[in-house]
Amino acid sequence: MKRRMYLATFGCQMNEYDSERMVRLMAEQDYTQTTDLEQADFILLNTCSIREKAELKVYSYLGRLRKLKEKRPDLIIGLSGCVAQQEGENLLKNVPHLDLVVGTHGVHRLPRLVEEVRRNGKQVCHIEFDYHLPTAPKIASAAGPVKAFITIMQGCDNFCAYCVVPYLRGREASRPPADILAEAEGLLAQDVREITLLGQNVNSYGHGLNPSTNFTELIERISNLEGLYRLRFTTSHPKDLSPELIRALAETKTLCEHIHLPAQSGSTRTLKSMGRKYTRENYLDRVDALRDACPEVAISTDIIVGFPGETDTDFDQTMDLLERVRFDGIYSFKYSDRPMTKASRSEDKIPDEIKSARLSTLQALQKEIILAKNKALVGTHAEVLVEGPSKRQTGQMTGRTRTNRIVNFSGTEELTGRLEQVVVLEAYANSLRGELYRPGNSPDIT
Ligand code: SAH
Ligand code: SF4
Ligand code: F3S
Repeated sequence: MKRRMYLATFGCQMNEYDSERMVRLMAEQDYTQTTDLEQADFILLNTCSIREKAELKVYSYLGRLRKLKEKRPDLIIGLSGCVAQQEGENLLKNVPHLDLVVGTHGVHRLPRLVEEVRRNGKQVCHIEFDYHLPTAPKIASAAGPVKAFITIMQGCDNFCAYCVVPYLRGREASRPPADILAEAEGLLAQDVREITLLGQNVNSYGHGLNPSTNFTELIERISNLEGLYRLRFTTSHPKDLSPELIRALAETKTLCEHIHLPAQSGSTRTLKSMGRKYTRENYLDRVDALRDACPEVAISTDIIVGFPGETDTDFDQTMDLLERVRFDGIYSFKYSDRPMTKASRSEDKIPDEIKSARLSTLQALQKEIILAKNKALVGTHAEVLVEGPSKRQTGQMTGRTRTNRIVNFSGTEELTGRLEQVVVLEAYANSLRGELYRPGNSPDIT
């Protein structure tokens, strides 16, 4: 009998990847996906705990599901991902309408666990780490989306002082290249044209594999696959950014000129207490090396403001880093205490008003920088991989440049999945507006 599954995903791209795997596994058990909560036989929240706000969002969502469960006691409600891993049995005790808790290593067990709940009508919790890495999925031949993710490694060994990820995803473990290649080939056969390789620190891919390999070797093997237009990766830890990877960025045709290189802070003192293992100068040197090898490279970053002990001088150093590097994109966050982490035990916490003020100051500067950088692109042309119709405006298509900028332009749906040249007409803080370049229709091309 067909059953319906409703899935809400929170958090990072790795969670999105896990969600896709869970949908596929449940489809093998005859569960189709629904976007209507009321229609679902099984509701799964795939959760994130990176900051307190992310965790609270999950509880409020869960709270709203109570009425639904009262109305339909047969409904199965499950929680997976990082909050599930963090809270385990506690969740089942505190939330009686929750049926299932499955941790970050339990993705492949989901069908069996759901079945167990259905059979016994009792709450089930599975949060053991078993290091079962994803194997290449069986893929149907229907056309897929234009872009897809592949998780190439699990976990993290870095234990940055603020971060809960190593506790919730376990130790670093890399998938064998053959599995990753098979998955990439399967995606390309479904008309996927852009693949993003995911890991908390892709630069240390391959440690512990036999025969040993590394990230640039993996890139080399994937980058030449038939049908691949674009290859991306995230995230690179600055401490492990190798000269080989910088060379690959400059020389590998399908590898896009964009790197996400989280700095977290521009102050060496703060970086030291964060346990990041690089200094402000090391970071700036890597940016120079990247730009020397590949002048058009776009660099984006993550910044945390208000880390315990951060002084005005430390914060000024972060502002100065922004001015020097002129990033092409920043995700910025107020420091948030996370369970188990070293920083959460610090006695030097920064008041919320100061964190908020620093965040606004930083975001205002970045907005100016990005607007100026985008405006400088007006009149130039760029290669865009067309992703599909824009959700905001009818008649508009949307895609991204190789440097990961969003471009909207007038066009038709048949362009989806194609590489097109677009002339940039207008620049905003988060996107560009352009028109399709057809020789003859666009003067003044630079
Ligand atoms: N593995 C990646 C980051 C994954 S988490 C890396 O090392 O760069 C994504 C981002 O969330 C981090 O880069 C950091 O900026 C932010 N973050 C993590 N823990 C945080 C916390 N406790 N408070 C605020 N931001 C946090
Ligand atoms: Fe967290 Fe640091 Fe690991 Fe990134 S490298 S996931 S910030 S511990
Ligand atoms: Fe969130 Fe877990 Fe990803 S905490 S950011 S879902 S690794």
